[in-house]
Amino acid sequence: LSVARNISILGATGSIGTQTLDVVRLNSEAFNVTALTANKNANLAIEQIREFRPDFVAIADPETAENVKEAVSDLCQIEVGEAALVKAASYPSADIVVAALVGFSCLKPLLAAIGCGKDVAIANKESLVAAGSLVKEALGQSASRLVPVDSEHNSLFQCLQNSKKGVRRVLITASGGPFLHHSKEQLMEVSPNEAVRHPRWDMGAKISIDSATLMNKGLEVIEAAVLFDLPARMIEVLVHPQSLVHGMVEYLDGSTHVVMYEPDMKVAISDALSRLASCSSDKPFHSESLNSGCSFLDFSSGRTLEFIPPDFQRFPCLKLAYRSLEIGGCAPLVLNAANEVAVESYLAEKIGFLQIPMLVEAVLGQYDGQELGSVDDILYRDSWAREQARCWLREYGHSK
Ligand SMILES: NC(=O)c1ccc[n+]([C@@H]2O[C@H](COP(=O)([O-])OP(=O)(O)OC[C@H]3O[C@@H](n4cnc5c(N)ncnc54)[C@H](OP(=O)(O)O)[C@@H]3O)[C@@H](O)[C@H]2O)c1
Repeated sequence: LSVARNISILGATGSIGTQTLDVVRLNSEAFNVTALTANKNANLAIEQIREFRPDFVAIADPETAENVKEAVSDLCQIEVGEAALVKAASYPSADIVVAALVGFSCLKPLLAAIGCGKDVAIANKESLVAAGSLVKEALGQSASRLVPVDSEHNSLFQCLQNSKKGVRRVLITASGGPFLHHSKEQLMEVSPNEAVRHPRWDMGAKISIDSATLMNKGLEVIEAAVLFDLPARMIEVLVHPQSLVHGMVEYLDGSTHVVMYEPDMKVAISDALSRLASCSSDKPFHSESLNSGCSFLDFSSGRTLEFIPPDFQRFPCLKLAYRSLEIGGCAPLVLNAANEVAVESYLAEKIGFLQIPMLVEAVLGQYDGQELGSVDDILYRDSWAREQARCWLREYGHSK
């Protein structure tokens, strides 16, 4: 008899969060939602609480928390703010924590989950990028297992787990985003509305803009370096507009292992959940019967697979991410913080699309090579980078 696993979903109202709940809905005998978190989407949080009946809910935004409490305080315990997010991440009955908050807000809850030995399915890339060494140090002192949810890293994880051969390099694919064939002149004019419309994936606004600039791929290169302990030279990016191949590992014997599926995050989410559920201790779990709800690939329909090297000239964010890895220390953190400010400003129409890499490059250029230390150091360095970014904006941004 299989025993259901309790899941705490950080960022339940987001794109990854709602897709995780889709997987839970499809596999209701395998998973219970024991805790969930939201920020500003009160209506969806209320709906999720009514449907999934978690014991504990954390709402980051105080005003939203009041609205949620008014509607469903009789159904679960609801707390507010960062401390509540940390509590959801370390909730005693949770077997698995899904880390799907956006941006830097995930770091403290993630460290809390690892600190108390929770197994973590990690979607949030910014905390790995900004504080990779800290996350690894925490993992070294904990019994936690970390399985990536990001489709590329989950694919690499699957390939690497299944082979003991020597690795020559890993390849991660990029759809190329909505502006793959745009000239530099066209890129100057693209609006946030056009940029958030991703051709293959339905995602949150921040990651959609990152996909359009290829910064998302840059962050993924850094994420792969952290997750798999690889130097930048062993991680390659290929533009693959069909988004069917998600990750490849090339082995020293000349073979390449590939993970392919229709672009649907639920495949990676259910892989991560089933791996963590199966390896968690004493309770039996039948992962073979899990359903991701994804449609199957039809190879007989004559589909073509293209692979193109990325254009660093039109998409300099990718090059900046590699540069930050070469610089080391806090450089990826600085890159990430500057990028978060740049994307926010672009979405608010305060800068143009091509000013995103300009801002990031300017802030990265100010970095003095200081090493990563404690969480406080990281928070300090993060706010320093954001302040540098805002200085740049005051000089070069335009207000609307
Ligand atoms: N979406 C994808 O397909 C995908 C794929 C791979 C990796 N990822 C990574 O997964 C993470 C989540 O991405 P997403 O696309 O799911 O993002 P999203 O749709 O924007 O959702 C973010 C979630 O975090 C909550 N949130 C936002 N700001 C917060 C704050 N300051 N404090 C606490 N909670 C906050 C949101 O709450 P409200 O909605 O209630 O405001 C929402 O639940 C990102 O790191 C992203 O890079 C995403």
